[in-house]
Amino acid sequence: MTIASFPAIRLRRTRATGWSRALHRETFLDPANFIWPLFVTQGKQVEEPIAALPGVSRWSVDLLVARAREAQSLGIACLALFPNTQAERRSEDGREALNPDNLMCQAIRAIKDAVPDIGVLTDVALDPYTSHGQDGLINEAGYVLNDATSEMLVAQSLNQANAGADIIAPSDMMDGRIGAIRNALEADGHANIQIMAYAAKYASAFYGPFRDAVGSRGLLKGDKKGYQMDPANAEEALREVALDLAEGADSVMVKPGLPYLDIIRRVKDRFEVPVFAYQVSGEYAMIEHAAAAGAGDRDALILETLTSFRRAGCSGILTYHAADAARLIG
Ligand code: PBG
Repeated sequence: MTIASFPAIRLRRTRATGWSRALHRETFLDPANFIWPLFVTQGKQVEEPIAALPGVSRWSVDLLVARAREAQSLGIACLALFPNTQAERRSEDGREALNPDNLMCQAIRAIKDAVPDIGVLTDVALDPYTSHGQDGLINEAGYVLNDATSEMLVAQSLNQANAGADIIAPSDMMDGRIGAIRNALEADGHANIQIMAYAAKYASAFYGPFRDAVGSRGLLKGDKKGYQMDPANAEEALREVALDLAEGADSVMVKPGLPYLDIIRRVKDRFEVPVFAYQVSGEYAMIEHAAAAGAGDRDALILETLTSFRRAGCSGILTYHAADAARLIG
């Protein structure tokens, strides 16, 4: 058999014109595939710009509702909420996470009241509520306790579910918590609430701006390497995903995004389930600072990176650029 080659084959033929490039395009971006992370703060009519995340603010609940309306008009599918808990409500055990009237629950209820057709995803982990900034309960040595934390996370999940959350998204990396949360949701009459597991979450240097946004950076002693994954590991990510799916996750997340596209592709190929990427705060900041320094065109950087997630196999992307990207797609 002869293999056709140049000049019979010229791959540049289909690239020569705009209409032809469009005709042959394999991957598309749609705001329906975006999840927009939003930070919530106390008060009324409050917008607090976050210096480490240029262009991103914390919003009081009333103004958050306006963001939800904006998201809906842009065709964005879902919001992801993160509270900046007042210092006096943070404690060693993060019990504010269980308060049915905490900032998170207020935000969920306000959005579900005003914009019922947009999805609300809620983060489950204790770091926005603890005085030490770790995602769970710690012992005297500062070690994050697995099983005791898991019990707190179950209660936190039910609290968010009762406030109206659509997708519970545990970001804490405790072992066994997906199964525990799933059982509790079933037992409590929440059979249709989804769980999106932060299944492969790495102990990454890209989370810095987020920790500023939720007010935990200054509090955090040590690191999170005792529960978040080693960036060097891929097989372990597949084990994490297999367990979370077996325990009842509806979808899985890989986080951060861009440095872990290989993990996204391997998870998609191996499990054939909905996979999401979290393009995290440090990735957002990297694009904004690169664009501000003239290293690249901002709009093109946004669209190219988001497209890469879809190409790698993602159903959707959590991105702070969601609204900007939706406007760019038009
Ligand atoms: C913590 C949590 C983190 C992020 C989402 N949930 C930070 C961390 O693990 O320290 C990071 C998101 C981002 O950087 O944008 N449970």
